[in-house]
Amino acid sequence: MENRMYINGEWVESVSGATFKSLNPATKESVGNFQKGTKEDVKAAIDAAEDALDAWSSMPAPARGEILFKAAEILKKRKEELSQLVTTEMGKVIAEGRGDVQEAIDTAEYFAAEGRRLFGHTTPSELPDKFAMTIRVPVGVMGLITPWNFPIAIPSWKILPALICGNTMVFKPASDTPLCATKFVEVLEQAGVPNGVVNMVTGAGAEIGDPILESKKIRGISFTGSKEVGEMITKKIGIRKLGLELGGKNAIIVMDDANLDLALEGIIFGGYGTTGQRCTASSRVIVHESVKDKLEKMLVDKIKTLKIGDGLDPKTDVGPLINEKSVEKVEKYVGIAKDEGAKLIAGGERGPDTGFFYMPTLFTDCKSEMRNCQEEIFGPFVSIIPVKDVNDAIDVCNDTAYGLSSAMYTEDMQNAFKAIHGIETGITYINASTIGAEAHLPFGGVKGTGNGTREAGIEGIHEFSETKTVYFDYSGKLQKAQIDMD
Ligand code: UN1
Repeated sequence: MENRMYINGEWVESVSGATFKSLNPATKESVGNFQKGTKEDVKAAIDAAEDALDAWSSMPAPARGEILFKAAEILKKRKEELSQLVTTEMGKVIAEGRGDVQEAIDTAEYFAAEGRRLFGHTTPSELPDKFAMTIRVPVGVMGLITPWNFPIAIPSWKILPALICGNTMVFKPASDTPLCATKFVEVLEQAGVPNGVVNMVTGAGAEIGDPILESKKIRGISFTGSKEVGEMITKKIGIRKLGLELGGKNAIIVMDDANLDLALEGIIFGGYGTTGQRCTASSRVIVHESVKDKLEKMLVDKIKTLKIGDGLDPKTDVGPLINEKSVEKVEKYVGIAKDEGAKLIAGGERGPDTGFFYMPTLFTDCKSEMRNCQEEIFGPFVSIIPVKDVNDAIDVCNDTAYGLSSAMYTEDMQNAFKAIHGIETGITYINASTIGAEAHLPFGGVKGTGNGTREAGIEGIHEFSETKTVYFDYSGKLQKAQIDMD
């Protein structure tokens, strides 16, 4: 199947005349050919977005909201088809494929309704006959660069708030999941997004990422992906609006008073769900030494029951990794962890070579400074670190460059509140896993996870709009603000 890019409301071929394949990671079969976009294609997309900006940003936000409501309806109707596609192209198990699409539905409904709010605030002026307020205005033409792990949900987190705020955009989806991106753009077209407002260019990051970043017409960038690429983008774009979400090394803390059955489920779900390929994945387990042996045994027993395979089979618990490079990366970290003295108690080997499989892997007796406890592996790889008490647990939890998500299992309120205040992450769960953020709450992190922006929820609006402060003087004379009086 030959797929096209979407520029100025037309499905077009790249000027390169070249295509690339997207593979089903469970079977290594092709799911289609996609255009290898070039600098010229990016330029056409940016020009189209610039031309469409005036009309789109002048449309009343509630009218833009109507289009987003329509998109939500279409996503609901096409949910099963799109979910199968997410699983086929990205590999996550079908229940999670449905979750990916559901997250986009929730996001569409949330931001559609925001068309009737987009609140600024009013406040008294220090002078008589003078009115003071803030309003929200679009950023302009934006560049949106998305990863493959939530191939429908994450594009929706960026495109939908960007739309409701009145921006136009160039969307560059990950080259591992261009089919999901194409289908999502198709939904937006069906919903009535006008020509030129959303433009999609497919292809390699190296080829089309730079022209997006370098164009002075692009007023803001939103990027989800690796810390290394995030740092590179930060250097390249200079002083322009930027939203970043760059991953995590998220921990579940299990205290001595925890409900261990509950913790077990949370670790399995957060550590091996989506085959560990979530920014929010529970890649570390920080356990109180008094319950370590018991929890370890429970985990090993449970891991043995997990069924590895094609995510389209509803019995599958753990699907494939996205590609061969990801399998090699997990393999590399297994070697590193062994060399550094961590103890392998489950997995540690490839799965069936019909697809990009790796067995759910568990290391224990890890030390916080080991590379497997510091670096994002993005695979089914969990590291257990024993600790002595709650303060030690929080210190270890904070001992990484990242700060996205965290969790504590405890029945003790003091421990829970110490965690809420002491852990340096953007998201903290109590008695729930590190994954599963809801669409109407802010999502993002501190430290190396980002630059302070949040997506989803009301803060998603801030990432895709600017605040304008307005003073309206109706006194009919020159009034000086307090600072300018002598
Ligand atoms: C991501 O992995 O980049 O909270 C996003 C979660 C999902 C989103 C994860 N709602 O796990």
